[in-house]
Order: sequence, then C-alpha cells, then structure tokens
Amino acid sequence: MTPDEFRSAGHRLIDWIADYRETIGRHPVMARTEPGSIREQLPAAPPESPEDLEALIGDLERILLPGITHWQHPGFFGYFPAVASPSSVLGDLLSTGLGVIGLSWQASPALTELEEVVLDWMRQAVGLSEQWRGVIQDSASTSTLVALICARERSSAFGLSRGGLQGVSSPLVVYASEQAHSSVEKAALLAGFGKEHVRSLPVDSEFALDPEALCRAIRADRAAGKTPCAVVATTGTTASTAIDPVGRIAEEIAGQGLWLHVDAAMAGSAMILPECRHLWEGVERADSVVLNAHKWLGAAFDCSLYYVRDPQHLVRVMSTNPSYLRSAADDRTVNYRDWGIPLGRRFRALKLWALLRMEGLERLRSRLRRDLELARWLADQARSTPGWRVVAPVPLQTVCLRHEPPGLDAEELDRHTLAWVDRVNRSGEALLTPAILEGRWMARVSIGAEATDRGRVESLWERLRREAEG
Ligand SMILES: Cc1ncc(COP(=O)(O)O)c(C=O)c1O
Repeated sequence: MTPDEFRSAGHRLIDWIADYRETIGRHPVMARTEPGSIREQLPAAPPESPEDLEALIGDLERILLPGITHWQHPGFFGYFPAVASPSSVLGDLLSTGLGVIGLSWQASPALTELEEVVLDWMRQAVGLSEQWRGVIQDSASTSTLVALICARERSSAFGLSRGGLQGVSSPLVVYASEQAHSSVEKAALLAGFGKEHVRSLPVDSEFALDPEALCRAIRADRAAGKTPCAVVATTGTTASTAIDPVGRIAEEIAGQGLWLHVDAAMAGSAMILPECRHLWEGVERADSVVLNAHKWLGAAFDCSLYYVRDPQHLVRVMSTNPSYLRSAADDRTVNYRDWGIPLGRRFRALKLWALLRMEGLERLRSRLRRDLELARWLADQARSTPGWRVVAPVPLQTVCLRHEPPGLDAEELDRHTLAWVDRVNRSGEALLTPAILEGRWMARVSIGAEATDRGRVESLWERLRREAEG
C-alpha cells in the first residue's frame, strides 16, 4: 500500500468509524448471532490477490457488524463501562501508525518518556502522592500478577535467584475477599502460590472484605507454620462495586511484612473526583495499585495503569539485561521492559495522552459525575417501586437490582431474574450482565457508556419494569 493509498483508505475508514459512532444507537446492543455463524460466512483460506478497502467494509457491514456487541452503545449497561473516547482512538491509531516498539528507552525514547509523563499526570489526577511511579500494562490481570510476583519475591528474600518457591520452607499465603475478581486467584496460581495457599475471605453485609476475618486467617496461617505474604484489597468489586476498607486492612497488617495490592481496576477512574477518594482511604499505605484507564475513564483498550511505591524492587524482580538491549543511556533512563512481563511494548501512552489533552480533566470529571447521578436516580426509582430491591450499596455507577414478586421461592426467583434480563437483552435496547450475589442471581446495571444520558436511563427503567413486571 502506498502512502497515497493509505491516506485515501484511512480517510474512508475514519469516516466509517465516525458514522458508526453517530448511528450506533440504531443497532441492537447485544449481538444476536448463533455460535459459529460469523465464521461460517468467512472464506476458509486466505486471499491470493489483493482486495480493496471497499471489499473489506462490505464484509464488515454484512458479516461482522451483526456479530458485534456494541460496547459504545448508549444502551450498554453490561460488564463495566469500557469507554473508547474518540480522542483516545486517535491516539491509538497514531501508536499503530508510528509502528514503534519499546524494547528499551533507546528503542524509542519518546515512547518511554511520554509514558513517564502521562502516568505522572494520572497519578496527580487520582490524588496519589509523589511516592508513586507508574507503568502501563495490558490488563489488571497482568498488573495483579506482577504485584503478586513482587510480593512473593519480597517475602522470600529474592528466592528467584536461588531455588524459587521450591526452596521456600514455609509456604507463602495470599489473601483476598470472596468477592475479589477471578484474576486475583489466577495471578496467585500462576505466581506459584498454589490453591491451598490462596484464602478467599468472607465479606460483611456490604460485600466488603472483613478485616477481622483477615486477621484471624493470618493468625491461623502463622500458627500452622505458613508465611502470610500478600493481601489484595478491591476498591470496587466486579459483581457489586463493593469497597474493601483499604485503610483498616493496612492497619491490621502493619509491620507484618505483607504486600498490600489494591485492585481498583474499574473504580480507580472515579478517583479523578476528589469527592470519591475516601473510597480508597489508606491507599497510600499500599505497595501497589492498579486502575484500568481503559474502563470508565475513556482510554481505548488496553491501558491498565500499575503504580508502585518501590520501583527498585519491581525492577529487581523483573529485569533482564541481554547484551543486544544495552545502551550507553541505561543508567540515566527508565527501561519499562523491567517494569513488567513483556519485552516489546506498544506506544500505549499516546492514547492516554490524546484523551487527557483533547478532553481535559474537567470534562472527564463531569462525565463521571453524570454517571454517578444517573446511578443514584435509577437506584431511587427501584427503591421507591414496590416489588423491586436494590441488593447492594451503590457507591459509584453500578446498580444491583432484583425484581421480587411475592410467592416465589429462591429457585423460581433466580429463573425469573434470568428470564427478564434475557428479555431486556433480546429487546436490543439495552444490555445487562447478571451476576450472583449471596448465592442468588441479580441484575447489574453498569452505567458509564459515553453516549448514555438521562433519557436512556429513563427508558431503561421503563424497559426493566415492562420485562420484569409483565
Ligand atoms: C475489580 C476487577 N479487577 C480486575 C479485572 C480484570 O481486568 P482486566 O480485564 O484488565 O484483566 C476486572 C474486570 O472486570 C475487575 O472488575
């Protein structure tokens, strides 16, 4: 493809994306395709001769679009908001267009230095002190894996340089609440702790980790000759946005050598609002924090921000230094390959830079405040309508609901919930993803798509009532 062909195809594609965003509300939010039906329509073998962009766009509209669940749709209330703000889409395109790979500072100095700067902007934006240094990872799952590996190495006095976990006499233990994301257990297993040494702790009536249960578990493990190693506290759990008490947890484990990692993957974006920062009060006492800028904040996927208070420890655990990657500037620069698992790194800072510069924090804050207000409004409607129950606190933008008609037993209630949520999803107007809380299904309404407004949430409420109340 020549630069001129790229220019004209690129203009056409940007137009297509802009039109898609403008008319996205006309699509059914959830894909209605059957498994395999997209694959079946695509050729099994690769093309021998070139095709033009129009042929691709034709297939995109005819074959792929029906198989897209529209995350940027104003009626998207599923999973979590994953706002890909157009400004950040442009930054992402720029990253791909430049086509550079950050193997080391020297491999593209601007890639590293912009990342340092935007991560420091974000540190300030969420109110973390100057003690923190950040790096972009692909996902919260990776960030938590990195955190637990660092915890393991601190507790084992750098066992990796000797026998690794196989040389540790007293098994290391990781603690998190039973509401923690599945990525926490996965990270612990991948980091070698073993299922027997991952404690899933009970929660209080608001689904937050109970610090006393944590203390009891730590005491029991010590008495059994094990070494408590790390606690993962969640600020905003996946099912219900529960808020673990980070400050109290830090207090309970103070002086015991445990690593404290805060998983604020979704809720971390809210910390750009000073009025929300009490939710992670005590965060300054943690060792590491992850927040996904690719969720509610508006950076296109993937852009997970991982902050640590001791970058030297991180580098000591993660560093490699092969001859072909050395440069004369190494002792004066950051080499982000030593801050995580992959060697090659995309220029992901560009999409965050573009978002922050072209939106500005003020606009991001008012969008988030709008979503908080919409969640409060929806929760108030449900609370004041007979037969409806808000089943968890609403600290942010997720509202957990159940419609509870009289006379149903627990199983019937589950069937009722799943059936009406399915009807909402099949309507094409909205998408909700249900989840289990206290052993019972409930409907999660996760507000935060950029295009969602008050009118949308009002029609959602009417739709929920129609489908649930019949
Ligand atoms: C609290 C929490 N932690 C971790 C994750 C995993 O995020 P990622 O997909 O970036 O690994 C999620 C995703 O929903 C989450 O809600």
